[in-house]
Amino acid sequence: MCRGRQQRQQKQKTANYSDVNSQSSAMLKRFVTSMPKVELHVHLEGTLEPELVLTLAERNNIDLSSYFKDVNDLRSKYESIKCLNSFLQVYHRCASVLRTERDFYDATMAYLSRAKKDNVVYAELFFDPQCHKQTGVSFETMADGILAAVDDANHQLDIKCKLIPCFMRHLSEASAMSMWSEIFKYFQQHPKARDKIIGIGLDSDEQDNPPSKFHGVFWKIRHASKSVVGDMHIVAHAGEEGPSNYISQALNLLRSERIDHGVQCLSDDKLVQRLRDEHIPLTVCPLSNVKLGVFDTLKQHNLKRMLDFGLNVSIHSDNPAYVGGYITQNYLAVIEALGMNESDVVCLAMNAINSTFVLESERVVMRQQLRDAARPLLLMLSAEYE
Ligand code: ADE
Ligand code: ZN
Repeated sequence: MCRGRQQRQQKQKTANYSDVNSQSSAMLKRFVTSMPKVELHVHLEGTLEPELVLTLAERNNIDLSSYFKDVNDLRSKYESIKCLNSFLQVYHRCASVLRTERDFYDATMAYLSRAKKDNVVYAELFFDPQCHKQTGVSFETMADGILAAVDDANHQLDIKCKLIPCFMRHLSEASAMSMWSEIFKYFQQHPKARDKIIGIGLDSDEQDNPPSKFHGVFWKIRHASKSVVGDMHIVAHAGEEGPSNYISQALNLLRSERIDHGVQCLSDDKLVQRLRDEHIPLTVCPLSNVKLGVFDTLKQHNLKRMLDFGLNVSIHSDNPAYVGGYITQNYLAVIEALGMNESDVVCLAMNAINSTFVLESERVVMRQQLRDAARPLLLMLSAEYE
């Protein structure tokens, strides 16, 4: 998966110069900022900056004045979030401003433009159709707007993006089934969407909402006509704050190909062994985990331990507008807090590429882009340690 990592660690132990350390740390930070990145765990609704929420609320004549006074007030609401539950309340309220195709277009374009600044070359973007269904928006309206922005961003910004609508687990399986029927119809009417809408996810509040609740609907998705929906990938949030057993359920019952978060896995040795042996991707979101109280501080985050166990972990941003950082900031924060070195960083970035749902030939290109970007750093550091 990430060969070379152990070798690098041994070399570093023999180096004993403090100026080398500070120089290499500055170089590492520069590298992280400029390296090509892959984003696999980001929610469109979690990218809505307060300014955009306000603009869309005004455009759609939605009165949110009883909820916040102005943009600063809304920003302080974002800042005061402390747990998943309080986060989801603000998240749903703010997401309710997305009503028209143009709103979905603008939100997606705003995110992809911001991601471009972080040198994201490829993103798999989540969105929550049931959330917008509650305000009367059809799947077609959401998907048309998001897909148009994805196309324009590809041409104008040279950034690639695919989509993964998610079911919200605090709602019933019947609600997920009805959403799936609407998605299926969309595929029937828009066959080209198959290339861009590449899977279905599961998110929202884990508490008392195990993956088993959605066994039936994911079975139906796996058995849906390929000629209509193409290859639908399945991913699930599990083991964010829910028990490690939810990760096993997501794998066994839903046949999830990736686990979003998964940080609770270390409490189960057998599961860790399976995740390692089967190279199951775990898309970890360090700043989100601290913001939502999964870990008290970033120093206590278990990302480094997961990596040292040989797990296929990668770093992502989850809800960047809310949790205090986009993808680059997540990388920089873990370097600082957990003492990640350059081979850890390259390994995390490589894992993200290996975990994408794209053709192997596209992964080959992304791996080469990363190697090219990393080469000067790795060469310079190995020369310094001679
Ligand atoms: N939806 C958006 N962000 C989420 C998170 N961190 N956990 C579960 N559901 C979410
Ligand atoms: Zn998430």
